[in-house]
Amino acid sequence: MSCGKTVLEINGLKVTLKSKACETKECCNKLPLVNDVSLAVSQGEVTGLIGESGSGKSLTCLSVMNLLPDTMVLDKGRITIAGSSLEEFSLADSSTKNNHLKNRTQNLTSQWRCFRGRRAAMILQNPMSCFDPIFTIGYHIKETISAHGLDWKSHRSKVDSTLCELGFESPNEILSAYPFQLSGGMLQRIMVSLALLLEAELLIADEPTTDLDVIVQARILDIIDKMRKEKNVGVLLVTHDLSVIARLADNVSVMQNGAVVESGKVEDIFHRPKAAYTKALLDAHFSLYGSNINEVLL
Ligand SMILES: Nc1ncnc2c1ncn2[C@@H]1O[C@H](COP(=O)(O)OP(=O)(O)OP(=O)(O)O)[C@@H](O)[C@H]1O
Ligand SMILES: [Mg+2]
Repeated sequence: MSCGKTVLEINGLKVTLKSKACETKECCNKLPLVNDVSLAVSQGEVTGLIGESGSGKSLTCLSVMNLLPDTMVLDKGRITIAGSSLEEFSLADSSTKNNHLKNRTQNLTSQWRCFRGRRAAMILQNPMSCFDPIFTIGYHIKETISAHGLDWKSHRSKVDSTLCELGFESPNEILSAYPFQLSGGMLQRIMVSLALLLEAELLIADEPTTDLDVIVQARILDIIDKMRKEKNVGVLLVTHDLSVIARLADNVSVMQNGAVVESGKVEDIFHRPKAAYTKALLDAHFSLYGSNINEVLL
């Protein structure tokens, strides 16, 4: 049982496609992409989110950061992050027909800018699409730092040491590089460094080690572990790797077809899975990697 405060609480989240995005009647009648998802992340703990491809893990993460694509709508549910309810922020989509609403929208958009990164940081699944190709990495980092009211000069040495910590031996070269000059794995490490720099209380890591070689994978997982142990960061960790869940997560939620089919303590779920889908997932993992449950949980 966790003693830390809850840094993220999602209750009954439902995400659907906006009807204008539907070109056919069948599309409009489709089930929601995310349906009735509830989960929580506590300070200093890791909650794992696993499940088949297309089950709604990334959309759940994007909902938390208010980064859903324009074609989707957060239909129902309540998201509370570090004590603030998403409802206070999510009206940014409101019509801007009059100045009052326009000002409100601008205020909410700037609240979100402050909120993202500083209170909650996210490592996205597809790092290539997260950086503007016409700006250098240094520009991106500088912009992020100043958007949060921090001074670039006094943070410069911290930027260098964070980049070194993530395996970049020459921070200057990285800062002057353009995103298209770097690999997906390098961009993923830069996203991790931004989360470290801003010292967010909640880290959402959507497959943070995809595209990385095993040495860097291990380093990133160690850093996430260190962030939660030393800085008390709460982590929502999405991965297909059950060994990573066994190693890092305290709790886990299993998703299938947009819904959570099972959730609880990692030991309980791994030792006594109740849902047929969880059993199949665990069996597939063991038959692929040849280990049994006790080895995985060591
Ligand atoms: N931009 C989009 N437009 C329409 N449908 C989308 C879009 N993005 C995702 N979807 C659909 O939403 C569902 C959930 O997608 P999501 O990306 O959350 O899956 P996921 O669990 O993260 O999968 P993976 O493990 O492959 O990353 C899928 O059916 C997907 O096809
Ligand atoms: Mg995904």
